[in-house]
Amino acid sequence: MMLFLIGFGVTFSRASILQASGNKLHGSLPANLRHMSAGYIHLGSNKFTGQVPQFPINIARLNLSSNFLSGSLPSGLNAPLLEELLLANNQLTGTIPSSICQLTSLLRLDLSGNHLEGDIMQCWKESDANSTNLFGWNMFSLALNNNNLTGQFPKFLARSSQLMFLDLSYNRLFGGLPEWLPEKIPQLRILRVRSNMFSGHIPKSLTSLHRLHYLDIAHNNISGSIPWSLSNLKAMKAVVSQDTNYNFYEDSIQIIMKDQKRDYTFAIYKLLVILDLSSNRLAGQIPEEITLLIGLTNLNLSNNQLTGAIPNQIGDLRQLDSLDLSFNGFSGAIPSSLSALSYLSHLNLSYNNLSGVIPSGQQLQALDNQRYIYIGNPGLCGDPVGRNCSTHDAEQSGLEDIDHMPSVYLAMSIGFVVGLWTVFCTMLMKRTWREAFFQFVDMMYDMVYVQVAVRWAHMMEKTQDGAP
Ligand SMILES: *[C@@H]1O[C@H](CO)[C@@H](O)[C@H](O)[C@H]1NC(C)=O
Ligand SMILES: *[C@@H]1O[C@H](CO)[C@@H](O)[C@H](O)[C@H]1NC(C)=O
Ligand SMILES: *[C@@H]1O[C@H](CO)[C@@H](O)[C@H](O)[C@H]1NC(C)=O
Ligand SMILES: *[C@@H]1O[C@H](CO)[C@@H](O)[C@H](O)[C@H]1NC(C)=O
Ligand SMILES: *[C@@H]1O[C@H](CO)[C@@H](O)[C@H](O)[C@H]1NC(C)=O
Ligand SMILES: *[C@@H]1O[C@H](CO)[C@@H](O)[C@H](O)[C@H]1NC(C)=O
Ligand SMILES: *[C@@H]1O[C@H](CO)[C@@H](O)[C@H](O)[C@H]1NC(C)=O
Ligand SMILES: *[C@@H]1O[C@H](CO)[C@@H](O)[C@H](O)[C@H]1NC(C)=O
Repeated sequence: MMLFLIGFGVTFSRASILQASGNKLHGSLPANLRHMSAGYIHLGSNKFTGQVPQFPINIARLNLSSNFLSGSLPSGLNAPLLEELLLANNQLTGTIPSSICQLTSLLRLDLSGNHLEGDIMQCWKESDANSTNLFGWNMFSLALNNNNLTGQFPKFLARSSQLMFLDLSYNRLFGGLPEWLPEKIPQLRILRVRSNMFSGHIPKSLTSLHRLHYLDIAHNNISGSIPWSLSNLKAMKAVVSQDTNYNFYEDSIQIIMKDQKRDYTFAIYKLLVILDLSSNRLAGQIPEEITLLIGLTNLNLSNNQLTGAIPNQIGDLRQLDSLDLSFNGFSGAIPSSLSALSYLSHLNLSYNNLSGVIPSGQQLQALDNQRYIYIGNPGLCGDPVGRNCSTHDAEQSGLEDIDHMPSVYLAMSIGFVVGLWTVFCTMLMKRTWREAFFQFVDMMYDMVYVQVAVRWAHMMEKTQDGAP
């Protein structure tokens, strides 16, 4: 091993490709590789320690990911041909040097899984606004996740119009998510900003990112409501098939799903259509339009302050593999359409205010942990929660009458009014019917009113009788 390292600079000085990944190579790399003539160095998944060396001047691709490199990045990075710089999963500390902004050929940068801190790169000042020769111009993939970076959403990305993949998750970024994403980086497919301290609303414009099929803004401090225009996310409205081609390098990112960490290559990744807005401060109702995103494989809205009913058409999301609506204030019945979700392998509706009968269906009954899917919704009944629906009704009937009766009549009256309106429109056309019709209306109105009033009075009596 030592031999290899001593001879490194000399032996390989003429090599254009150095590929020795996935071995047990250890020791430190020579501090300076500037004069080495290597276009491609791949020494990932070894046990190298020490600092990141000065890059060979003509290097195009450098992969030193998954080693034990430490210290900070060399300050004067100079490698005008460098397209791919992968230093993920090491133990790098310090800040990202500003010289990285001079690596104008970069297509792909991965510094994830280190201990980098300080302000996230600021490669772009307002005064540079009209210069075209800037960092990030052609970059398609940027991963700075799992570090300790601070600052606002990086503005220089507005100059990276080719960006498809952006992962800033697990840092300490703050401020709002920008409105300019669709305008400046329209190709964006994957956006992960999970576990930061972003605040403000979900930008309305975000929903016109037509290629976005993976949006993870979980564990931030995002407030406001879920925009109904989410249904414009075109790439989520299509069911992806295995054959859909991604047309760029294989990449690998870590996705946390169902509390497991897994590595995905882009190839697998393209099959995922994910919307994770969990653990924020979102309020209001789920817009019904969300059910138009029929490509969704994972939907997580858990841990927010959402209220109202679960959309009736939720069963339209046929590709769903997991659905998590736990820890919100959803009320009303669980839509029976849920039982149409035949790929569902994970469901969590716990800790809401849902009521009524739990729908049955083969797939729903096959799910594990039946009880824990529905726990924390005292109003639900059915096998999974061990509450017999008929006895449940009986137990509650005394009180429920009062809650439900007026609404039954209200519903009846609304139905009646709607019916009337239809007839009324017809009347506008047929003049001769009108007079007779209005007499009829008066009569019916009185009848219904009287009935409702009588029932109401009757019910109030019942309640008062019941009271001590
Ligand atoms: C870079 O190295 C890591 C660790 O060995 C490996 O997992 C990854 O696939 C490599 N990436 C490329 C593009 O070669
Ligand atoms: C980030 O910084 C905190 C405190 O300085 C430290 O406890 C934590 O381990 C750091 N995380 C990473 C990924 O370096
Ligand atoms: C950039 O160009 C626009 C017009 O093309 C001009 O209005 C603006 O002032 C310029 N900005 C700077 C910082 O030079
Ligand atoms: C979340 O944002 C609100 C303002 O919208 C702020 O008052 C609050 O302190 C923030 N919470 C955290 C944990 O950053
Ligand atoms: C949904 O998000 C919550 C909170 O962020 C997390 O605890 C839960 O595991 C996620 N559910 C799934 C199915 O990934
Ligand atoms: C639960 O829902 C019922 C109506 O179904 C409502 O009256 C009640 O206020 C809700 N409770 C909470 C804590 O939201
Ligand atoms: C749903 O989430 C709650 C809260 O995190 C948890 O206690 C419960 O076990 C989860 N249910 C399932 C089926 O994973
Ligand atoms: C539920 O209760 C009713 C009467 O209270 C009984 O006839 C029925 O068998 C019970 N169903 C189950 C599944 O226990």
